[in-house]
Formats: sequence, C-alpha cells, structure tokens
Amino acid sequence: MKIELKNNKVFFENEGSRKEIHPFWLRERVNGDSFIDKKTQQRLFDPTELEGNIKIDNLNLSGDCLEITFNDGAHTKLEIQNILKEFSNISDVKYIEKIKWDSSFTGLNNFEFKNNFFEEEEMYNALKDFYQYGFVLFKKVPTKDNFIVNFANSIGSIRRTNFGEYFNVKSKPNPNDLAYTSLPLALHTDNPYRNPVPCIQMLHCIVNEVKGGLSTLVDGYTVTEKLKKDFPEHYKILTQIKVRFKFIDQSVVLEDWAEMIQLDEFGKFKQVRFSPRLDFVPLMDKEKLELYYSARKKISELYNSDKYKIEFRLQPGDLLMMDNHRLLHGRTTYDANEGNRFLQGCYIDYDSTEGKLKHLKRKFNL
Ligand SMILES: [Fe+2]
Repeated sequence: MKIELKNNKVFFENEGSRKEIHPFWLRERVNGDSFIDKKTQQRLFDPTELEGNIKIDNLNLSGDCLEITFNDGAHTKLEIQNILKEFSNISDVKYIEKIKWDSSFTGLNNFEFKNNFFEEEEMYNALKDFYQYGFVLFKKVPTKDNFIVNFANSIGSIRRTNFGEYFNVKSKPNPNDLAYTSLPLALHTDNPYRNPVPCIQMLHCIVNEVKGGLSTLVDGYTVTEKLKKDFPEHYKILTQIKVRFKFIDQSVVLEDWAEMIQLDEFGKFKQVRFSPRLDFVPLMDKEKLELYYSARKKISELYNSDKYKIEFRLQPGDLLMMDNHRLLHGRTTYDANEGNRFLQGCYIDYDSTEGKLKHLKRKFNL
C-alpha cells in the first residue's frame, strides 16, 4: 500500500490497483488546532456546511507527511501512516483472530482480580483472551452481593434486560425460566428472542456448596466450521432460514426472527443462536422442513457431543465472562439438598469490551 501524487490529485495504490482519493475525504481530515479539538479529536467544523466542490490547490509529500492546501484556503499536514491505516480496514478487535477449541482445550489463562486491575495491562491480556477464545475466567473476585454490577461497569456499561440489571441464579419457587431450577440446562445461547441479542454474559459465583451444577461451554464457532465442512447442506439451511424465537412471561412478550447460524457481509461466522425450547420454524415445503429438522438435530448432536464441550465447577469468587454470540453454555443438574448454589449474572455489550481493549492498547502502547 502506498500514496502517490499526480496533477494535484492523491492516489492510493494497493496490489496493482490505483484509485484516486476524493479531495473532500482529505479535506474532512484536516487536523490543525483550528480544525479539530486536540483532546477529543472531534471536528471544530461541520463538513456538511463546506462547499461541495472542494479541490486541491497544492500538494507536497515530505517525509512521512502529506501537505495539502485546498481551494477554500484550508491547509493541513496528514500523516501517511494514518491514511493507510484507514484503508487497511482493520480494527483492533477484528485483528484478534478467533482460536477454535473443543473438549481437549486446556490453554485458557485465569486472571486474578486485584483492585484497579481494570486499568492495568493484565486487563488487556484478559480481553484479548476473551476475543480469541470467546470466554475468560476471573478468579478471587470479591463474593459480595451485587459486586458483579461494579465489575461489569468497570469494563463498560451493564445492558439491562427484563431479568433486571443483574439476575440471581438459584433455584426458586415458581420460576419464569428453567435457569432458576436445579434441573440440568442443555447447551444454549441466552435471549435469542431479543433484538439485539445481549453480546456478553457475566456469571459470578458467590456460593457453591453442591457437587453437581457444573458449568458447560461449547465453542459455537468450532461446531459451525465442522458443520460447514462435513454437512454443507445442513450448514446452508441453518444460515438461510429465519426462525422465530419467543419468550413470554406475565409482563412481556419478546419475539425475534433470526438464523440459527448468522453470517456477516463476507459470508463468515457472525453469531449462533440455539435454544430448542423456544424456537419456531416457519411453515415451509415438507422437503425443506425435512432438511431443516435434520440440520437442527445434527447441530444439536454436535453441540451436546463430548467432543466439543468442556465442563468445570465454578468456585466462589470465580467470574466467567462469555461471548453469547459465539459460545453456548449450560449446566449439569445438582441436588439442592446438598447446600446452596448462588450465582449472579448480567450482560454487557461488545462496545464496552472493544472500547476498553482499545483504550488499554493505546495506554500501554501495545
Ligand atoms: Fe443461559
């Protein structure tokens, strides 16, 4: 990638393709003290109020900088590196590649809670692990009631849902969700009936006196890639059919239509939804439904297979942070007569973790 100049025009050259950069695009990026606020990096001018016919009067490439004078009198020096960065289209988080894992996975780091560690390099490493593996485990987090609210808000902002700002996970009478019983919970993603689906779930173990109730996790990304390779027809239909996910209780009806495997604009993995107790496929041709049911059965078998899931017992003080768009989670059954089991959970969105990660990267020059 490089920048070239010709006849008062700026060109961006990349792998044999050469394109002119619109002069207005450069004019928007003028960066002198009278154009942008140094502290916030926000513009002090409104580009929608500029004349549309912005042209370049004078251009000069000196060292690492491009010096430009525009026909409206604005003059600026732009760093070539910064221009190239915008074309490389790599955000810090997307640059962190996902690492697939299955039941043989042993590589996860634990991060021990310390006061102020939200502003330390250790937190950057934890968030990087989170983006690589889809989850991270924090140890020795104070087991104070509601501490999860402080914890979550120290990374970003809590995403409130109809379950509240945070929720208590323990068996209770007349539960409005199976999570609040001692029954086993098959692998699932949370809240597929919401739009948008909460991105990240945090679960903080406050008390655990029972032998069972193991937490289970599966990498939906690994399973999706497996399905794509070995069962392409099943993969295809699950990426195409939007199913209805629905949740009701006494005060709300939540409903959304979405694919069980959602792809991004480049056809790559974006998100999985799986909750076979509350999904409703639309009425389609019998043959198509036949294929859909067979695909759902296959992906359920893979999700629940011993080949992909890991199981572990959360200890008091453990805080599990997991990507609800990538991972499935569940719980084995437990005997409520053995003692108490009390977890607190909440959700946060990706902009919280991404914002924190980028901040720490900038702070420690990583
Ligand atoms: Fe859940």
